[in-house]
Amino acid sequence: MNTYKIAVIGGDGTGPEVAAEGIKVLKAAESKFGFKCELVDYDIGGDRYLKTGEILPDSIVEELKTFDSIYLGAIGHPDVKPGVLEKGILLRLRFELDQYVNLRPVILFDKRFCPLKDKTEKDIDYVVVRENTEGLYCGAGGFTKKDTENEVAIQESINTYKGVQRCVHFAFQQARKRNKQKTVTLCGKTNVLTFAFDLWERTFHKVAKNYPDIKTDYAHVDATCMWMVKNPEWFDVIVTDNMFGDIITDLGAITQGGMGIAAGGNINPDGVSMFEPIGGSAPKYTGKNVINPMAAICALSMMVDILGEEKAAKAIEASVRKVVGEKLDTLSAGKMGYSTTQVGDLVVENL
Ligand code: IPM
Ligand code: MN
Repeated sequence: MNTYKIAVIGGDGTGPEVAAEGIKVLKAAESKFGFKCELVDYDIGGDRYLKTGEILPDSIVEELKTFDSIYLGAIGHPDVKPGVLEKGILLRLRFELDQYVNLRPVILFDKRFCPLKDKTEKDIDYVVVRENTEGLYCGAGGFTKKDTENEVAIQESINTYKGVQRCVHFAFQQARKRNKQKTVTLCGKTNVLTFAFDLWERTFHKVAKNYPDIKTDYAHVDATCMWMVKNPEWFDVIVTDNMFGDIITDLGAITQGGMGIAAGGNINPDGVSMFEPIGGSAPKYTGKNVINPMAAICALSMMVDILGEEKAAKAIEASVRKVVGEKLDTLSAGKMGYSTTQVGDLVVENL
C-alpha cells in the first residue's frame, strides 16, 4: 500500500478547526481508496510565537523537508504585527522548500454562490499558476533616511529566467493535464513593466514551442481582472508573477463563492509541497464551529492528487461539489445551515 508522510500545521485562528475536517476526509479516503498517511502535527503559529518568541525554528524547517507533503490550516494572529508570521512562516516555507508554483483553481461548484450575473458552473473553471518564489515577494529593497521628510523606500521585483521558465512549463503541463481549452494565458503588464514582463513574454513564447498542442494568449493584468468578471469562460490556465497572482486569485476566489471554498497549493514538483485554504485565520469565528471547512477540504483534495492518489482526489472533489450544491445555504461562516464539523461529516458521507 502507498504510504505518505504528512506534516500538519493547524496554525492560527480557525486553521486547526478546518484542518481537522480535511484530516477527517483524508481518513475516510484512505480506507476507501487503499492508501495510508502518517500524520505528524506541528505547533507553529501566532500562539507559539507569543508564548516562546519562536516563529519557525530552523530545525523544524529541516524536518519538514523530509515529508511527502505539508497540510496547513492558516497563519495570522490579531496580536502579532502584520508581516511577522506571514513572512516568518508562510513565505519562508514557500521559499526554503522552493515551492515555486502557487496553484489556485478557480472553480464554481454551484451558480447560487457566484456574484457574477448570468454565469454558471461551466463558465468558471480555470486555474491560476502564480509564480511563488520571486517577484516583489523576494524582500529586495530597503529604506534610506527612514522617518524623515527625505525618506525613500524601494521594493524591487526580482525575475529570473530560471524562475520564470519553470513556472511557465508548469502552466503548460497544467493545460495538458486539464485537457479543456488547452490554452495558457500569460497575465502581465508588458506595456509598462518593460523589463520584468519582457523577460516573462520572451520566456513564455520560448517555452510554448515545447507544447505545440497548447494555444497561447496574453492579457495585461488590469484587463485580466476585467475579463475574470465579464468573460471568465475565456480562461483555462492563467500564468503570472507572484504579486499579480496574489491579487487576481482573491478576485477569482470571490467569483467562485468566496474564501470558504478557495484552496491553494504551494508546489515544488520535485520536492515537498504545501496545501492550504487561502482564507486566513478568521479570528472572529475561532472556536465557534461555524467556519466553512470546504476550502481546507479542497486543499486536501489537491494534496491527495499531487501525492498521486488521483482517484481519491476526484472523489473528494465530487463529494464537495455535491454537498455544496445540495446542502449548503451559503458558503459563508455561520450561515451554511450546518456547523464546521457537520460539513466535514457530509463530505465523508458523500464520498
Ligand atoms: C496568499 C496570501 C499571502 C500572500 C499572505 C498571507 C502573505 O495572501 O497566500 O495569497 O500574499 O501570498
Ligand atoms: Mn493572497
